[in-house]
Amino acid sequence: MSEPLTRRTFLTSATVASVAISTLAARDQKTIQLAVVGCGGRGNDLGKLFSKIPQVVISHACDPDENRAKKLADDLKKLTGAEEGPKVVSDFRTILSEKNLDGILVATPNHWHAPAGILACAHGKHAYVEKPCSHNPREGELLVQAARKYKCHVQMGNQRRSYPKIIEAMQRLHKGDLGRVYAAKCWYFNARPSIGKGQATEIPKGLDYALWEGPAPHKEFRSNFLHYNWHWFWNWGNGELGNNGIHMIDLCRWGLQVDYPEKVTSTGGRYHFDDDQETPDTQIVTFDFPNKKTITWEGQSCVMHPVSQPADVIFYGEKGSLMIRGSGYSIHDLRGKEIEKVAGTDGMLTHATNFIEAIRGSATLNSEILEGHKSTLLCHLGNIAHRVGHALQCDPRDGKIKDDAKAMQLWSRDYTKGFEPTV
Ligand SMILES: NC(=O)c1ccc[n+]([C@@H]2O[C@H](COP(=O)([O-])OP(=O)(O)OC[C@H]3O[C@@H](n4cnc5c(N)ncnc54)[C@H](O)[C@@H]3O)[C@@H](O)[C@H]2O)c1
Repeated sequence: MSEPLTRRTFLTSATVASVAISTLAARDQKTIQLAVVGCGGRGNDLGKLFSKIPQVVISHACDPDENRAKKLADDLKKLTGAEEGPKVVSDFRTILSEKNLDGILVATPNHWHAPAGILACAHGKHAYVEKPCSHNPREGELLVQAARKYKCHVQMGNQRRSYPKIIEAMQRLHKGDLGRVYAAKCWYFNARPSIGKGQATEIPKGLDYALWEGPAPHKEFRSNFLHYNWHWFWNWGNGELGNNGIHMIDLCRWGLQVDYPEKVTSTGGRYHFDDDQETPDTQIVTFDFPNKKTITWEGQSCVMHPVSQPADVIFYGEKGSLMIRGSGYSIHDLRGKEIEKVAGTDGMLTHATNFIEAIRGSATLNSEILEGHKSTLLCHLGNIAHRVGHALQCDPRDGKIKDDAKAMQLWSRDYTKGFEPTV
């Protein structure tokens, strides 16, 4: 089960308070040193965000694309005014034994998330791992095991777990403001362009493609694989479901207080463009849980919704509905009439600070990796149902797919020799 909300709320309030306290006490604290692993758009965001926290230093910028690592190192040096900026590193594995390094911020493509997080733990380093926390279910299980075995803090980048008004909305759902809450619906819409048909081409200068591929079986480099477009190939990504669905599905799971499903169905396909993408651009996934509870997610990658926001969540209960939009929420009666609207604020910095406070021993993680794994697993199950072309029956104790060898083959993946994650 999800953690009781009262405790989570308390801890988050404590975290907010501790931001102020940590500012005062900063001089007495050890500086936390972190490496950004993956210096794309998200790595840049994380590097800048964590640099705002007192007594936190980004000591390394790691990326097999040296232009990206150098740019982030330069940007952070300018931003912080430090005499020395972060060290530029190609292979993050070479720094994991550095004594002063406390943790890594993993913002690589998905196929590196869990392997990097597991390696970090094995070296006694904490890990903030971007969503989805794994490329396949087995990796998620291993990441949780690694966090336990090496006693490291591993937090997933599903930052809404730290948004104050979203926490409040969850608290109200859990204490019964809507009566029994039995269903949640969420969606993600975007108007992405085609990635076209790629061609075999030279690897760009400054990119160590073999390291970029790392654990994933080798594919000859093509012009439309990276950066970013790897999301749409099963070898590296998890489609829109693992890319953006994860955020809202995590909120649905939290609000409904459910863990593992008993049935997963997926409909849809690649309907919009005729290009090289493998993952669906149109997908509707339904997760049925024990005790009459359901989550539905709709993903549209190539057309915006005419009325709704790109990503919303609605909870349905005996007394009405609760809608999460952005960082706030609204409550509606059974006829849909809005009876309350609550504005929210972004909690990204709180989420980052929560990770630091956990490392310092003064907070519990808002999105401990077991919770991140459970939500990520839902995305994997949705994609497995899509790929095998039929509904999955699952064991609600651990999400394992029942009596279905074909689907269970996708529980893990093949690995390039030397990169297999082990705990
Ligand atoms: N939490 C959020 O709101 C949020 C937002 C955006 C992206 N993300 C996640 O962050 C991740 C990165 O997204 P992006 O848009 O920056 O992707 P991107 O492809 O633009 O950047 C990924 C970077 O990782 C680098 N990389 C690959 N292998 C590496 C390795 N072994 N070591 C270090 N770096 C390596 C790549 O060269 C690239 O520069 C994705 O998994 C995405 O899901 C999360």
